[in-house]
Amino acid sequence: MAFLSDTLSRVKPSPTIAMTTKAQELKATGRDIIGLSAGEPDFDTPDHIKAAAIAAIEAGKTKYTAVDGIPELKAAICAKFKRDNGLDYTPAQITVGTGGKQVLYNTLMATLNPGDEVVIPAPYWVSYPDMVLLAGGTPVTVPAALETGFKITPDQLEAAITPQTKWFIFNSPSNPTGAGYSRSELKELTDVLMRHPHVWVLTDDMYEHMAYGDFTFCTPAEVEPALHDRTLTVNGVSKAYAMTGWRIGYAGGPEPLIAAIRKIQSQSTTNPCSISQWAAVEALNGPQDFIAPNNQMFIRRRDIVCTMLNQIDGITCPVPEGAFYVYPSIAGLIGKTSAGGRLIDTDEAFAIALLEETGVALVFGAAFGLSPNFRISYATSDAALTDACTRIQDFCRALT
Ligand SMILES: Cc1ncc(COP(=O)(O)O)c(C=O)c1O
Repeated sequence: MAFLSDTLSRVKPSPTIAMTTKAQELKATGRDIIGLSAGEPDFDTPDHIKAAAIAAIEAGKTKYTAVDGIPELKAAICAKFKRDNGLDYTPAQITVGTGGKQVLYNTLMATLNPGDEVVIPAPYWVSYPDMVLLAGGTPVTVPAALETGFKITPDQLEAAITPQTKWFIFNSPSNPTGAGYSRSELKELTDVLMRHPHVWVLTDDMYEHMAYGDFTFCTPAEVEPALHDRTLTVNGVSKAYAMTGWRIGYAGGPEPLIAAIRKIQSQSTTNPCSISQWAAVEALNGPQDFIAPNNQMFIRRRDIVCTMLNQIDGITCPVPEGAFYVYPSIAGLIGKTSAGGRLIDTDEAFAIALLEETGVALVFGAAFGLSPNFRISYATSDAALTDACTRIQDFCRALT
């Protein structure tokens, strides 16, 4: 009898965490490494949010809470959905989990049966297909080409839907591409979904506040209110509030689904950290004025990276609408050999050669389901980004 579960053989460890770990190991040996693989802001959690957490500890708010969130946080989330997205949810339609990741995981565990299909545009956030597999479902990926701005077309969505489709996972602005769907582009997709009433929408709005230039964020239930009753709108405080370590994510959706998610959570982790929940109340209710200056910083960094990468023969780097990632194509470099003698036959080979020979850590496109590309997370200093892009330029110039 095998000791490990068969389920485990269906999934792979997160490649983004693997690349980050490899870079940390090299750094520990004294190598000069620039890490561009981790998906988190480099700035600190704002002071007023930290103060709310300290106050919660001092007030003894350190015990178990309601499984899916304290009433104060649910109220703050309802207010946030109304304020930012024009969405009406009651507290009973809200769930809070240990990060958006747990909310997504619970949702898929609570709803998927063997044979159920989940439509996922590629490139995708690495965890979506594996979570679907863990929950016993079947991921159906739809390639979003560079030529269409890494966005899928309505025809592609239509073609991917079958009678077995349970969910369509939507993520805009996207990790890994930073691509954001405009209201009219999203409306075209929701029009398709209106023709398929059995398909539910799992929208991951984690990068909502990181929207740049003319791009305005929008979410499916806002663009097509008729989808409200079959949409789970997932969000969190990790990215916009620089709170990745606090582990608070949340969602709004129909009450029976929220109850099913609560059941899974009650038998696994119980409530998310009480102190983090109080910090999240402050994040959502408190001042939002630091978000705009942070975005200005992200725009500047995005532009540094895009400009320097586009100067390289063989790399095409579209300028994304949001998040803090770029996803350049390296189609023009495949088949070449590095100065260290490594054949660049895949984007994984490119990422490994780059790390070994220049110390720049990024994540290869195959991890996200669309090759040959790589993802850079530009949530780091201008100096580190300039240094990293100079090293990438030198590395590519030396390819033969
Ligand atoms: C697209 C996307 N969704 C969800 C998450 C999970 O965020 P958290 O669990 O920190 O809320 C991430 C984190 O990288 C992400 O990039």
